Amino acid sequence: MESNQAINKFNPARKGIKLLMTAGPVEVSPRVLAALAEPSIYHYYSGFIDFFEETTKKLSRVFRANPERQDTFILQGEGVLGLEAAVVCTVNPGDKVLVFENGPFGKWFGDYVVNAGGKPVYFHEEPNKCFDIESSLDFIEKNRDATALTIVHCETPAGLLNPLREICNKAKSLGILTIVDCVASLGGAEFDPDGWGIDISVSASQKCLSSTAGLTPMTVSKFAWEKIENQKKPLRISYLSLLDWRDSWVKSKKFPFTPFTNEVYGLSAALDDILEEGLDSVIKRHKEMSQLVRDRGREMGLKLWPLEERFCSPTVTTFSLPGNMEEADIIRKMADRHGILIGGGYRELKGKLVRIGHMGYQAHYPFVSATMDALEDILGKN
Ligand SMILES: Cc1ncc(COP(=O)(O)O)c(C=O)c1O
Repeated sequence: MESNQAINKFNPARKGIKLLMTAGPVEVSPRVLAALAEPSIYHYYSGFIDFFEETTKKLSRVFRANPERQDTFILQGEGVLGLEAAVVCTVNPGDKVLVFENGPFGKWFGDYVVNAGGKPVYFHEEPNKCFDIESSLDFIEKNRDATALTIVHCETPAGLLNPLREICNKAKSLGILTIVDCVASLGGAEFDPDGWGIDISVSASQKCLSSTAGLTPMTVSKFAWEKIENQKKPLRISYLSLLDWRDSWVKSKKFPFTPFTNEVYGLSAALDDILEEGLDSVIKRHKEMSQLVRDRGREMGLKLWPLEERFCSPTVTTFSLPGNMEEADIIRKMADRHGILIGGGYRELKGKLVRIGHMGYQAHYPFVSATMDALEDILGKN
């Protein structure tokens, strides 16, 4: 793999970091970096409109969306923009919303529901376990009067990949709108909005898609559009308004405000990387690299944070702390001695684990194996 080290010497923000193995933002390919550095363009010039449309079509292929049933689009802002927009545009005051929660991002959904005046009903699981399908279906059955359900695919801070197919299809069969956070899974794990009964899926450009932060890839189903239009007070003239986006972009090929042209260049190049390699092959590479991380970790005596291996995400791996070292200590030594940046616990998991991202461009053997060699060195020499 080509390393981006040549660029590092001009970039004081990286402070000597040669390899970024955090769970997003991630290392991006030289092709993406080059695209980001291209001269900008006026967003209403026909060249950019065509380019944006092409990028959206490529994204739809990566989502495996069914264009007959789902619109794909690219919101201009961090993934959080799409997550908040999905809730605020679909939840009426007083609506009951089923919030599946086994980590910080699951919880965020609940907060957005409260902000929208809805009533979250939580389905809680411990942050080292995925949702059990049978009890999830039972919970949904007992809450048939809910209007929406939210769930996170890859709960990044815990390294978990939650099951979606049965849960979302069950909710859909009862007419419950399904909203999925696939921020840390799209482009790195199987994902199928149409086959899995997902009405709104929300991702982000800086994780497995392997560009930089700033864009929110989304799909919205016909059922979701109906719900959005039939809100008691549909959200309009707002940065969070999905209707503004649909009426501007999807219907008229116009933008409601100035899009981030260079971020779109970067995303387009990242999607080219994925589609040229082939989505199946990219997903397989993520699986293989995550297996390598887990196997190497085990050989070093590390214990996986998720209770069972089948709960582990192919895009990020979390290990419990070895006992004789602090989280910050491991991260600092990895950076100082090896120039490799890995992550630690987030929110309630702070101080409990270390996290290695293997998303997008990071999920290549030389980067993963260098990271695990460095970790072995740190753990052996502390
Ligand atoms: C699962 C998940 N959801 C949401 C977010 C927030 O997305 P963003 O940082 O793009 O706003 C993250 C970021 O790490 C995430 O991992």
